Parts: sequence; structure tokens; C-alpha cells
Amino acid sequence: MSRAQASIASAAPWWQAVRGDRLTIQGGVPLNGRYEVSGAKNAALPLMVAGLLTPHLVTLRGLPASLDVAILSALLQSLGVGLQWSNTGDGLSLTMSADRARAGAIDAELVRRMRASVLLMGALLGRTGEADIPMPGGDAIGLRGIDFHLAGFRAMGATVEIVDGVVRARAPNGLKGTEYVFPRVSVGATENLMLAAVLADGPTVLRNAALEPEIADLAYCLTGMGAKIDGIGTDMLVIHGGLPLAGVVHRVMPDRIEIGTVACVAAMTGGEITISNANRALLGAAAPALESAGITLKDSGDGLIIARRTGDRLNGIDLVTQPYPGVATDLQAPIMAMLTLADGASSITETIFDQRFRHVDELRKMGANIVVRGSTAVIRGVPRLTGASVTGTDVRAAAALLIAGLAAESETVLAGLDHLDRGYDAIVARLTQLGGRMVRS
Ligand code: UD1
Repeated sequence: MSRAQASIASAAPWWQAVRGDRLTIQGGVPLNGRYEVSGAKNAALPLMVAGLLTPHLVTLRGLPASLDVAILSALLQSLGVGLQWSNTGDGLSLTMSADRARAGAIDAELVRRMRASVLLMGALLGRTGEADIPMPGGDAIGLRGIDFHLAGFRAMGATVEIVDGVVRARAPNGLKGTEYVFPRVSVGATENLMLAAVLADGPTVLRNAALEPEIADLAYCLTGMGAKIDGIGTDMLVIHGGLPLAGVVHRVMPDRIEIGTVACVAAMTGGEITISNANRALLGAAAPALESAGITLKDSGDGLIIARRTGDRLNGIDLVTQPYPGVATDLQAPIMAMLTLADGASSITETIFDQRFRHVDELRKMGANIVVRGSTAVIRGVPRLTGASVTGTDVRAAAALLIAGLAAESETVLAGLDHLDRGYDAIVARLTQLGGRMVRS
């Protein structure tokens, strides 16, 4: 066991790497039934970091039992945060006690595995006045700078330098409130600067802030701790820093990307799935896009009911990924997988990341007809996908190939399962309960 694996096992004892790095899928079966969506990974990670901000107890409920959550637990534990887990039946709960939190050496291997580790920087700087974080890694989806994060910390009075691949930030006299305009919308940078600003002296104004619901979830958790934040849900956030922060109990919002992915697999396989703790509004602009492709999304007392509109084939659509409320880039790969089986042509333009079409070659191996020109993929629907050996190269690409395999005729062997583990809580088991035929070996 490597040092990184040992620290994950110690910090998150519930995480057991599921043995086997190949998933064999026998596709072609409609998926039907009830699906419980997990707490959102992209909300859970910044919320866990918020536990560093206060010496009081912070409890998060409904965390997804995913590898990214386990990795961040290991990082928090290495910074002196006490972690107590329980599983109450409605998801994983974590109580964090950061009364003895300290800046310290951060395991570069863990940081390389998860880009969101960079979020530790704002909270650590605010709490301890120093942070040394190895340059983060993450998915292979293109160049992912952290220049906005660092520029924001500098605007708050910190010194920031990069020495031997480690970002070294210092604010010995504390951070000062500031005004910062993001050069382009960034989810992570908005969260990082919010986390820093709640402990800074005086107000911080963040303009061109990201609008993703996970940011509002973080803001509501912080206000629950006693922070004062104006403009939640808008692109101008005013964080009144320096107020004392108490503990909080907060429930993580449902994972809207998982909801969208499950909608795609219901439509592709011609089944009907009800997602218990979900509603149409969570999907933002992806909801009308999925509907125009021929999916019905019906809110009911029971949850969100998803099915193909007529029982016939889906139809092609044109879409562009955008920051929220636009169609999420994280749904681009699953929606593309779905559109490979639609009638007629579709186009998808990716505007957020520059290398996020690595699933295209894999989908082609399954018989998809996709041509990429620059940042646009043109997908011409085919009557059927056929099983093949494919590899997921990032979290969402792996999910896209999983659902393509479930819809394909014959057998698909999916590798790159680490990515699936990073982003989803037992998605294979949950889809198996709906009729999916899969074996991990
Ligand atoms: C988050 C999500 C990820 C999602 C993405 C976009 C988490 C843990 N991850 O990632 O699932 O795909 O938002 O919705 O929430 N950029 C810079 N400099 C910076 C910061 C960002 O150039 O300092 C660029 C990035 O390279 C990218 C774009 O801005 O092209 C958006 O990235 P950002 O919103 O920051 O994504 P993440 O927070 O990394």
C-alpha cells in the first residue's frame, strides 16, 4: 500500500478500493426503477474545506462515498482536522473538528490526483496565514490554470510564489478584504476566494463570480456558520469578512450531474427511471436541452420521472456548454453518448475546457459517428452502438462510456474505473439495481 493509499484508508475507513479495474457490461437492457441520487461531489469538496475555517464542529450530511471525498479527507486529516464518520442510512455524514488545524506539508501525490485540493489554499491562508500546496492535478481535460485563485489571494494582501512546483502563500498579518473581478467565470476560484474572504478583515467584493448551485450551497453553509454574504446566486458576491464562525450542520445538495447522466441512460435504453430526491429545476439549461432531444422530465411527489417521450428514437439537438445556468460542461460527454443514438445530426460546442473530447475516439470504437472540428463535435445518429473495449480518461468521460455500454448491443469492457470511483458513489451498483448487467473484475 502506498503512503497515499494508507492515508486515505486511515482518514476515510469506509472507502475500499473496489477490486478490479475492468467493468464488463452486457448492454441493451432498458433501465427501469427508482434511483437515489448522491450528494454532489462538486458541492461536497468545498463544503469539506469549509470545516477548516472554524474551531467548532462542522457536520456535513449526505456526502457521496466517492474517492475524491476520501482523498480530501486524507488531506484534511494531514492538516490536523479530526474526522468522525457515520452512515445513517441517508448517506454518509462527516463531523469535522478543526480546533487543532495547522498549516503543514501536503501530500503531493494526493493533490495530483484531485485538482479541487487547491481549495485548501484559501481556507488555510485565512485560518493560519500560510499555505503550501503542490500544484494540483486532476482530470486530463486540458490546461487548467489556477492564476485567478492566486491573483485573488494577492489582491487580499498575500504573497504567493511557486517554488519547485509548490505554491507558497503567506499572509502573516491576515488577509484583507478586497475587490476582485474574475477575468472569466471560474467555479473553483470563486469558491476559493469565498473561503478566504470569510476570515479576511473587512468586506470582499467578487465580480463575475460563478453562479453554479454548488457555490450557493457553500454560501448557505458559510452563512449557517455565521458569515454574512450578500448576492448569493448572483455574479456579484459581497463577503463581510472577519465575523466569528460557529459550527453548523449542513446537508449537501443533490448531484445535478449524476441526475443528468441518469436521464441520458434512461433515454438511451428506453427505460423509465424515477430519481427520488431530484427535480427538473436542478438541471438548469440541460433540462430544456434534454427535452428537445425527446426526453420527458416530470416532477412528481415521488421525485423526477424520466423517460423517452414517445418510446421512439431520440432526435438530434445543437448545444453549447456554458457556465451555469448554461448546459454544464460536465454533462457534455454523457449527452454526447446519448446523441450517438438520436435521429439526425447533433452538434456540441465545448467552451469551458480545451481538451474535453477524449471520449469521442472511445465512442467511435462503439460505432458512433462523430466528427470533431476545433471545439465542436458533430454527431450523426446511428441505429445502434456495439460493444467494444474502451477507456474513461476523466470522471465524466468514464460515466459517458458506462452509459454507452449499457445501451450498446453485446459486450463492452470499460477501463479507467478510477475516474468513475472519483466522481460517483456506487453508480455501478445503483444502475445494476435498475437492470444494468455489469461485472467488475
Ligand atoms: C469545476 C468543477 C468541474 C467543472 C468545472 C466547470 C469542481 C470540483 N469541479 O472545476 O467538475 O467541469 O467547474 O463547470 O467543482 N481557469 C483559468 N484560471 C483559473 C481558474 C480557471 O484559466 O485560475 C479556466 C479553466 O482552465 C477552465 C475554466 O477557467 O478553462 C473554468 O474552470 P473552473 O470553473 O475553474 O473549473 P474547476 O473549478 O476546476
